[in-house]
Amino acid sequence: MTLFKAKNMMIAVGLIAAIPVTQSMAHEDTAGLPADVAARMAVMIQIKEAMAPLGGMAKGAVDFDAAVAQAAVASLLDASERTAAVFEANVSDPKSEALPAIWENWDDFVSKSDDLTFAAEGWDVSSLDSLRAGMGNIGAACSACHKAYRMKK
Ligand code: HEC
Repeated sequence: MTLFKAKNMMIAVGLIAAIPVTQSMAHEDTAGLPADVAARMAVMIQIKEAMAPLGGMAKGAVDFDAAVAQAAVASLLDASERTAAVFEANVSDPKSEALPAIWENWDDFVSKSDDLTFAAEGWDVSSLDSLRAGMGNIGAACSACHKAYRMKK
């Protein structure tokens, strides 16, 4: 019971944390979407935005900066840790790319989300070499989940 309450609290905190992101993303077309769908898109957009400077540094398009990299990984980790909570409600929308398989294979979906969390937790971005070395694990965690649970465009 206590655990159940704690879990709901975490979901609530996650949703609150997602609100500013959703609002600042009006141009990303989350306006008018069901709140549950907007919240999960906001988390994915946070992941994408966290990956942008990291990908830029890995490619050499952006100068390596350990502090910027560390902040980006913290944001990635925050969003990854909130992924299961924001996807829990089985809500669909024509604009959503989430496949029904998510809720048919919920434990596997959560485990794929945990894989990204573990990869992000273990990602040493204190040097450009280690940043580059960890990139593959992260990309693999994104695509493992997208392949199974996100519509192909
Ligand atoms: C546990 C599963 C899972 C993981 C891990 C995951 N995603 Fe996603 N992602 C999804 C699903 C499902 C959607 C579709 C959500 C929707 O449209 O309702 C999505 C959507 C997205 C979108 C589109 C957001 C929008 O609506 O504009 C981006 C960008 C994205 N993911 C990037 C990433 C990146 C980058 C990673 C890895 C660092 C990642 N995702 C990891 C499941 C995942």
